[in-house]
Amino acid sequence: MADIHNQAFTRERPWTSEEFTLLLGQPNTRSFSLNRSFAVGRLILGELEILTLACAPSHQRQGNAFALLSELLAIASKEGGHSAFLEMAADNLAAKALYNKLEFELVGRRSDYYRRKDGIRCDALVLRKRLILSQ
Ligand SMILES: CC(C)(COP(=O)(O)OP(=O)(O)OC[C@H]1O[C@@H](n2cnc3c(N)ncnc32)[C@H](O)[C@@H]1OP(=O)(O)O)[C@@H](O)C(=O)NCCC(=O)NCCS
Repeated sequence: MADIHNQAFTRERPWTSEEFTLLLGQPNTRSFSLNRSFAVGRLILGELEILTLACAPSHQRQGNAFALLSELLAIASKEGGHSAFLEMAADNLAAKALYNKLEFELVGRRSDYYRRKDGIRCDALVLRKRLILSQ
């Protein structure tokens, strides 16, 4: 996961294997993977937080992230989740298009939230999607 994360997030500080191990050891946190792509989410009190999502450049634009997130959202809904949210860099056009396709809505903006490897700061967008509760 650290390797894929490093390849996919070219402008951010890469997350280490140790950080992934710690993250995945936290309660209510789980990961899904497919074709050198993965998503990590945490469901707490009915709210799914999408913590990270990455697809290796060699496997992008093949529907992997869409499939992973669709699965994550469906499972959260089955487990009683009522909404999903995430933060993303405001200038990440691929992520914007992906979440738009999944019908997430913009609910907030955090100024200068991310600090890039080169020191430049970037706003975060907060997106939310209501989940349809399934029985
Ligand atoms: C964003 C990311 C996860 C998308 O992964 P992916 O597997 O390539 O995405 P998919 O193939 O499932 O694409 C689904 C939809 O997202 C949109 N999309 C994905 N990549 C896009 C791009 N480069 N440009 C424009 N739209 C894009 C499109 O709407 C696409 O649907 P379409 O192919 O029918 O047009 C991938 O580009 C990535 O890992 N980027 C770096 C890390 C990152 O930004 N993670 C998300 C942080 S919030």
